[in-house]
Amino acid sequence: GHTSFLIFSASLRDNSINTRLAKLAAQVIGKNGGTVDFAIMSEFDCPSFNQDLEVDNYHPEGAQEFRNRILANDAFIIAAPEYNGSMPGILKNMIDWVSRFRPQPFHQHHALLMSASPSMAGGNRGLWSLRIPLEHLGTRVYPDMFSLATAHEAFDEDGGLKDKTLAKRFEDNLVGFMNLVEASKHYPCIKKA
Ligand code: FNR
Repeated sequence: GHTSFLIFSASLRDNSINTRLAKLAAQVIGKNGGTVDFAIMSEFDCPSFNQDLEVDNYHPEGAQEFRNRILANDAFIIAAPEYNGSMPGILKNMIDWVSRFRPQPFHQHHALLMSASPSMAGGNRGLWSLRIPLEHLGTRVYPDMFSLATAHEAFDEDGGLKDKTLAKRFEDNLVGFMNLVEASKHYPCIKKA
């Protein structure tokens, strides 16, 4: 059947370049036959993590929503801004909350990480920090990550990338990930929760 992808940007900003990149990823996946479940970070909003809140099996609604959306799709894609060489605090906070469910929702799910930044490094350091909790939780984080440098001037009016060589690399990156996720659906060792 169809392979489905949860895609979201980890920025809350209205004119976010990461949201633009996430939307482009959604387009490319649709064009290549995949199904997209597009989310915005505000749907996964969680209070500051505090173990004292964890009474009577409490989980914030934003964490429940993320858990449901991870489980409803075959894989997830995050476009994350880089703040101070690392991932945004709201994203790590949400991951910490979601990690408290049993079964633990990140386990054995495939993820692709991408970033956009006005800088020349494209926010790539933030993605290395994001790999740490995800891999700790058993997510199969795709080796290739996509970081869009000088992202504030990289998009054309239709939301595509002006640089056609880069647009091809972006599409190849996504299609490689799609093929892996599709193939892994046939591995008997992976059970959907
Ligand atoms: C930034 N920005 C940034 N950029 C970068 O490439 N490396 C970095 O370490 C940082 N650090 C940083 C810290 C803080 C607190 C802010 C607010 C911003 C710039 C950042 O890439 C830029 O604001 C992007 O536009 C943020 O992504 P969205 O919101 O446009 O998706």
